Amino acid sequence: MINPHGSTELKPRYVYDDAARAALVAEAEGLPSLLVNSAAAANAVMLGAGYFNPLAGYMNLADAQAVADSLRTTDGLFWPVPVLNLTDDESVEAGSRIALRDPNVEGHPVLAVMDVESVDEASEEQLRAIGEKVFRTLDPEHPGVATFLSLGRRVLAGPIQVLNFSYFASDFPETFRTAVDIRAEIAERGWEKVVAFQTRNPMHRAHEELCRMAMEDLGADGILIHMLLGKLKPGDIPADVRDASIRKMVDVYFPPNTVMITGYGFDMLYAGPREAVLHAVFRQNCGCTHLIVGRDHAGVGDYYGGFDAQTIFDDEVPEGALDIAIYRADHTAYSRKLNRVVMMRDAPDHDKEDFVLLSGTAVREMLGKGIAPPPEFSRPEVAEILMDYYRSQG
Ligand code: ADX
Repeated sequence: MINPHGSTELKPRYVYDDAARAALVAEAEGLPSLLVNSAAAANAVMLGAGYFNPLAGYMNLADAQAVADSLRTTDGLFWPVPVLNLTDDESVEAGSRIALRDPNVEGHPVLAVMDVESVDEASEEQLRAIGEKVFRTLDPEHPGVATFLSLGRRVLAGPIQVLNFSYFASDFPETFRTAVDIRAEIAERGWEKVVAFQTRNPMHRAHEELCRMAMEDLGADGILIHMLLGKLKPGDIPADVRDASIRKMVDVYFPPNTVMITGYGFDMLYAGPREAVLHAVFRQNCGCTHLIVGRDHAGVGDYYGGFDAQTIFDDEVPEGALDIAIYRADHTAYSRKLNRVVMMRDAPDHDKEDFVLLSGTAVREMLGKGIAPPPEFSRPEVAEILMDYYRSQG
């Protein structure tokens, strides 16, 4: 199986040994505690689950700057997005051992224990410089930028030991999986060539066919549908509704034993190209050999060019930095001429009118009015689940 990023064995930060974990839970009750923000909590879950292998914890300011500037830590590890625990809390001191409390679970239980190696005070300019490199914009209207710049300026760095997987394990027991789980299941299925499909949306026809095309073109053994289960911007479809529609679509339209439906616990950054590279890193950690990167991958609004998330792999990911490869998809849509979903580059004789193209806003408006999107755009079973959701929103 493909190696994890940066090591030959996956080194998840979750404490798998029951006795050691129980001891740590007990110890944590006596430690000074910090209520972390949702971004830091999501980083802890990703570190715990092995997705952020080989990182052991949160980065310091110098590493965050190096990663933002050159996609490498100060030690030379290839890494695309800073993994930070930012706070405004002034009580935490370097050298201390603290309990990180979960902002997303009632009662704020301890999520992880952190050995704080350093505390850096970042200036506003330093944070903005990091943000600009990662998001390619500092527009406060960009949802990822707005979140990043609101997290605080104290950079707490150091390794963590993770005690649980926050609400992801309890709210999505059928879907949340760690990188450890996914590697084990891929091995059990005997799959060698595995394509990962990242998504934060219900899967429409274009998404479905993209998976099918990638499977066929690559001669893959299977596809890992890997959905984001964390926080999204307002207007995006909640994870449980997405999960239900994806399960239905796979159930009806894919051959058995070709698809694994899974999810990971992370908040959407909307960082477009940089997030696509992060997606590749953590799919490699799951044991996938390929990641589908299509149009405006992990993008939002008009901040990124339609295929910037592909060209970053040519321009900023050095040869050999990753073992996983990307499957580059062109804009995909239903062709009225050919009566099937195609990539536009494969239909050079088509005009725009020959495709069924609907914007996300148009689809949301239709669903909101109880109108099903056309079958060329959405499978009827998927449309039904989405309409139910919109109806329930009143
Ligand atoms: S994302 O934020 O998770 O990337 P989304 O769930 O919409 O958003 O997309 C999942 C993947 O499908 C991404 O790789 C994206 O580029 C690709 N994709 C979605 N729609 C299309 C389309 N019509 N044509 C080509 N690629 C697409």
